[in-house]
Amino acid sequence: MRVLVLFAFMVPFLRGGELSMAELGKRVFLDESLSTPAGQSCASCHRPSTAFADLRRVSPGAVEGRVGRRNAPSLMYAALIPPQKLEDTYDENGEVEYIVEGGLFLDGRAHDLLEQVKEPFFDRDEMNNADESELAGKLRRASYAKEVGGFKQMTDEKVTQKVYAALVAFLREPVFRPFNARIDDYWAGDPSALSLAERRGLDVFQTKGACASCHLVGASTWLEPLLSDSGYDNLGVPARGEMDPGLGGVTGLAGELGQFKVPTLRNVALTAPYFHNGSVGTLREVMEFYNKRDLEPERWGRTDYPETVNREDMGDLGLTEQEIDDLVALMSAFTDRSLLQMEEGELFPKTPEGVPTTEEREAFFKKKDQPDLSRPRRPRD
Ligand code: HEC
Ligand code: HEC
Repeated sequence: MRVLVLFAFMVPFLRGGELSMAELGKRVFLDESLSTPAGQSCASCHRPSTAFADLRRVSPGAVEGRVGRRNAPSLMYAALIPPQKLEDTYDENGEVEYIVEGGLFLDGRAHDLLEQVKEPFFDRDEMNNADESELAGKLRRASYAKEVGGFKQMTDEKVTQKVYAALVAFLREPVFRPFNARIDDYWAGDPSALSLAERRGLDVFQTKGACASCHLVGASTWLEPLLSDSGYDNLGVPARGEMDPGLGGVTGLAGELGQFKVPTLRNVALTAPYFHNGSVGTLREVMEFYNKRDLEPERWGRTDYPETVNREDMGDLGLTEQEIDDLVALMSAFTDRSLLQMEEGELFPKTPEGVPTTEEREAFFKKKDQPDLSRPRRPRD
């Protein structure tokens, strides 16, 4: 008996007290020593208290004076964005057309999350490391290195690969996918979870506003609604700074210039400013833009790629002021309770109860990630 108790007590030590991959990922996420110069971590731009987004229009990099060109998006639900693929559809002439779905970054330049998490370390406007050996050197000196065996007998490449996989494991944790917003209670069958205005807003969202044709409210690649179809579109948002080609810059197709990924609207009330370039400051203005973009061009000004703007689904929706107010109200029903309940000084939201673990969702989160770096190709005739 006594031996058993002693043994149970010893187990963590026998395992060397190693951090799990997700815990290692969390430590890396917060580590400000991994930029050049030191001082910037993932969390500097992806702020836990604002749904892991940045309230600044664009984020300053680690190097004084350098800034990125896009608004840092929320990382809530980012691990549920499916890897990139081509979807065949038919255009109005019945011709097969291939559209891009899924992939990470707002322009879809990363095939999947594993490919994405490496980029910020080497982006000159972000953490600015020269190469993998510079990054590996910092990781070997990090406070948590000894908790994962000091990265001993590992090449620089193996060290960084392990850390990328750890970041992916961390971003897949339940804390990033709680699905505990009031809209989830409503969809689970509690009508009182939404106010009257929010229920009217949901109706506009699904009918007159046709928002749900891109910000999906049904099951898709995931059982719970993600409020995104992971497609790409050009809404004609107001230009800021240099022209930004978006998806077209990645695929080289003129028809995709200015297209950006449809973001999830989960926690959108916490993540102002809006759109890929942070050009619109409030949710009410976003709604006014959708409603009257084409009727008041002088208000919104120039856009980067007018030729590819979607003029069918938005721009003149004919919504009333009341309907706009109701849509704005609805957006707060998309905020996760675990984020609202964060207390002053708390670094991360609490892990919600009852959310399936990554292992329990293995079919979606493939155990062995096969980084498919080949970009999907359109068949040529
Ligand atoms: C200097 C600010 C900054 C830092 C530091 C930073 N990011 Fe980001 N992150 C951004 C911006 C801006 C974007 C959008 C860029 C784009 O789409 O081109 C982004 C995009 C992402 C995305 C894609 C989300 C999506 O919807 O496709 C993920 C995931 C992400 N970052 C994770 C990380 C991780 C992990 C780290 C640390 C290793 C990190 N970021 C460090 C600013 C930052
Ligand atoms: C045709 C597809 C489509 C439809 C329909 C659509 N959206 Fe969007 N939505 C997008 C895309 C794409 C973006 C990102 C655009 C960008 O960053 O340039 C976006 C961005 C947003 C944002 C900003 C999110 C952020 O984090 O910056 C909000 C809010 C939003 N949409 C709400 C709505 C509402 C409400 C409706 C209905 C009135 C609607 N959308 C209809 C595709 C669509």
